[in-house]
Formats: sequence, structure tokens, C-alpha cells
Amino acid sequence: MMGSIVLFGPPGAGKGTQAEIIVEMTGKPQISTGDMLRSAVSQGTELGLEAREYMEAGKLVPDQVIIGLIKDRLSESDASNGVLFDGFPRTIPQAEALSEITEVSAVISIAVPDEDIVNRIVGRRMDPETGEIYHVSFKPPPPELSNRLVQRKDDNEETVRMRLAAYHNQTKPLGDWYGNMGILSTVDGTGTIQEVSQSVANAVRNL
Ligand code: AP5
Repeated sequence: MMGSIVLFGPPGAGKGTQAEIIVEMTGKPQISTGDMLRSAVSQGTELGLEAREYMEAGKLVPDQVIIGLIKDRLSESDASNGVLFDGFPRTIPQAEALSEITEVSAVISIAVPDEDIVNRIVGRRMDPETGEIYHVSFKPPPPELSNRLVQRKDDNEETVRMRLAAYHNQTKPLGDWYGNMGILSTVDGTGTIQEVSQSVANAVRNL
């Protein structure tokens, strides 16, 4: 399929976890604005310094910053047949700017209620070497990795509540926006990781 795919959903819905199967099925590279911003923060670049305070407060980074980042990334050669966006766009102005740069052919929304989100996020652990995402209860890491796993700074209960508020106020309306365009498929994100992967794979097959 030509064009790009957007993986949409609240924080902790499983976008990063489910991106893998879509990349395998479509061959499109994954572009995660959250990962790009975290890498800028850890390298201490100007962008990272600007983004850090928003991220740690659970607020969205300003649209102009994100749009600039995406424009640069989409100019790379691996993006020419469309990409998988994870965590972008997150506001209607971001989606409007994107529509001027590339065609979005499909949006896959992973639906998870707020009451499940806090547990998922507070229990998340990441492997900084491989980028693999674990969860202390739902996807326990192998014991030999336990001393190198890290927890994201914004993965605490207080910041998650702010991130959920930002999602409801600024991002959720974008789901309706894409729904009105007729390109939104919603999958139930409340089953196990394997069950949700099956639903995501079915959604990709039906695109
Ligand atoms: P970002 O990194 O995009 O964070 P997010 O949207 O809050 O999403 P997460 O990465 O928290 O969750 P996910 O859906 O990928 O879930 P995961 O698969 O890890 O953004 C961080 C910050 O950067 C933002 O707050 C903002 O400041 C800034 N930012 C980024 N993009 C921006 C943009 N476009 N505009 C403005 N600002 C932007 O899963 C979560 C956990 O649950 C894991 O532990 C996983 O193992 C577990 N899990 C997954 N699926 C299941 C399941 N089915 N059952 C049980 N557990 C599960």
C-alpha cells in the first residue's frame, strides 16, 4: 500500500508494542516522535532542551517544533514509500501540516479506557540497548536484563494523568477528524498483547 499509516491512541495504549507487527507486514519504517524527542533530550541538543520541560510535565511539545522534526525525517530516502507514524500527529494542526507533506492512507486506533492506562504506564520498563518495551506484570522482562532496564521519567502516576488530559483535550478530536475522512479503523486494545496483535494484523490486512 502506498501512503503512510498512523497508529493512534492514548498514552500507554500499546502503540509502540504493536508497531512491530505493522512494520513486519508492510515494510514501512516506524517514526515515533516520542522516541525522537527522547533521543534529543538524552543528547542534550537544543531541541531536546526545549522539549524536555513539556515532556516531564506531561504536556504536548509545541506543534511547530514537531512539524519541523517530521519534515526533516520525511526527507530521508527510506520514507519515500510511506511510513508508520507512532504518536504523531497528535493535534489537528499537526495533521493538517502532515497532509501537505505526505498522504495518510489509513489510521489504526487502539482503544483502551483510562482506567487501564495508569497500570500499563507505571509498570512499563524499557531496554535502552534494544528499545524493547516490557511490563513488570503483562510482559515480564527476562531476569538477566533486569539491571539494565530503565523507567521513563514521565512514567509516573501524576504525569500520566496530565498526559491523559492532553490526550482527551488535544488528541482525541483528531480521531473524529480522521473518522470523518473515512480512513479510521478502531481495534479493541484491552485484550492481551497477543490478542491485540491479532486485531491489528486483521486491520492491516483489510486496508
Ligand atoms: P510518546 O513517547 O509518544 O508517549 P505516549 O503517546 O504517551 O505513548 P507511550 O509511549 O506512553 O505508549 P504506547 O501507546 O506506545 O504504549 P506501549 O506500547 O509502550 O510521547 C511522550 C511525550 O513526548 C508526550 O507526552 C509529549 O510531551 C511528547 N510528544 C511525542 N509526540 C508528540 C507529538 N506528536 N506532539 C506533541 N508532543 C509529542 O505500552 C505501554 C505499556 O503497556 C508497556 O509496558 C507494554 O508492555 C504494556 N502493554 C502494551 N499492550 C498491552 C496489552 N494489550 N495488555 C497489557 N499490557 C500492555
